[in-house]
Amino acid sequence: MSILVVGNWKMAPEKSIEVQKIAKTANTLARTHKKNVTIVICPPFPFLSLASKQLTIAKIGAQSVSQYTDIEHTGLVSAAMLKQIGATHVIIGHSEARAVGTTNEAVHEQLLCLLEKNITPILCVGEDMRDSQGWYLGSVKEQLETALAGVVKSALKKIVIAYEPVWSIGNDAQREASAEECAEMVLYLRKILRDRYDEKTSRLPKIIYGGSVNEKNAKSFISDGKADGLLIGRASLDSKRFTKLVRSIA
Ligand code: PGA
Repeated sequence: MSILVVGNWKMAPEKSIEVQKIAKTANTLARTHKKNVTIVICPPFPFLSLASKQLTIAKIGAQSVSQYTDIEHTGLVSAAMLKQIGATHVIIGHSEARAVGTTNEAVHEQLLCLLEKNITPILCVGEDMRDSQGWYLGSVKEQLETALAGVVKSALKKIVIAYEPVWSIGNDAQREASAEECAEMVLYLRKILRDRYDEKTSRLPKIIYGGSVNEKNAKSFISDGKADGLLIGRASLDSKRFTKLVRSIA
């Protein structure tokens, strides 16, 4: 099975020249490792078209999508538009979007809009903090179950679930997650899917890991963490680090 590597550029870079440079690196990596790695790059909206010109082998994704389909939504971007520019994947429910108001219900609506257009949702779930009693599992379960409300079995193969513990994301991360913590959550997410659907269906979605993934720890999340891929923020914006990282898992 191909390992899925998603580069989430967040609100960077600022210049077109940098977009071209890192997109070119990503495309070269995608070509070199196409047998066992699938690379998806998610630039900010204004750079989607520019990046998509470079990304002939790597795929293009977006960082969000509107939950609506009618036009009265100033500032939002629809799934239909993303389909037009060739986006194959879209990140939804990222903790940075949840932090500014995206609710579980909105994430569910976004997921439906994407499935309707045959675009793969990368559904992010993850707890803000951990506690010794395991209460954090409940919030992750609620995020997953609300997003998947009413979603039929056959759609599960088109969905990617990204486990992203909020405490391990970005420059404010408290610490890196361990491969064991990742593996436990992957099993737990599959169990939720099994209880909701069945054993076979629970194995359909890829479950990837994100949060402070770098060139040193990437491999452990795949080999010991049971992740089918990685969602990478900062390290995907640095060509050298991204190259080392992809090589380490390929
Ligand atoms: P990070 O971000 O790799 O910079 O921690 C990951 C993410 O937010 O998707």
